[in-house]
Amino acid sequence: MSEPLPDGALDQLFRTARTYNGYLDKPVSEAQLCAIWDLMKFGPTSANSLPARIVWCVSDEAKAKLAALAMPANGEKILKAPVTAIIAMDHEFFEHLPEFFPHTDARSWFAGNAPLAEVTAFRNSSLQGAYFILAARALGLDTGPMSGFDNAAVDAAFFADTPNVKSNFISTLGHGDPASIFERSPRPDFARFNRID
Ligand SMILES: Cc1cc2nc3c(=O)[nH]c(=O)nc-3n(C[C@H](O)[C@H](O)[C@H](O)COP(=O)(O)O)c2cc1C
Repeated sequence: MSEPLPDGALDQLFRTARTYNGYLDKPVSEAQLCAIWDLMKFGPTSANSLPARIVWCVSDEAKAKLAALAMPANGEKILKAPVTAIIAMDHEFFEHLPEFFPHTDARSWFAGNAPLAEVTAFRNSSLQGAYFILAARALGLDTGPMSGFDNAAVDAAFFADTPNVKSNFISTLGHGDPASIFERSPRPDFARFNRID
């Protein structure tokens, strides 16, 4: 039985959480990166497919390599952030299904059907990217997701040895600097984009 989270937790996860453009000079440890994964991995994916593959760029070298392949404004954010994660997806995630979804032959649903495997990888790695954002917030960290970069160039630079792995989006990570953000953009009420049939 679950109870609703206290208001403070809802604020931290959603209402006061923001997308950050810059971060305080406060380090993020490898233990914190592992802690993010150890929460986000429990978010649901279809057939427990877990297609996301993450490269955590923490070295100056990795950040520079990634920043050079991003839109200039995004590149600057990457260079200054303590960490930037590349949320990628394995188009051959189904090879792991005998282990991750053992009670049926789920591998056969995807093997030999590249369009289905690719749309499934994209859908579920995007969900995992959202779980990444919420896990980071739950652990007291902030993120700055970005799609403004050259996916093909990032794939060549970071995943040359694993051509089945493709980048989805990237995200800076750290302790957000409130001075780096503008006012919150509007969010519509329920009635605007919802319908109860
Ligand atoms: C998938 C995705 C891609 C985004 N791409 C960029 C980007 O390339 N550059 C950028 O500055 N912000 C980018 N953003 C940030 C969004 O503009 C931001 O999350 C949104 O305006 C909400 O801001 P808030 O969380 O502070 O309310 C991206 C966000 C998401 C989720």
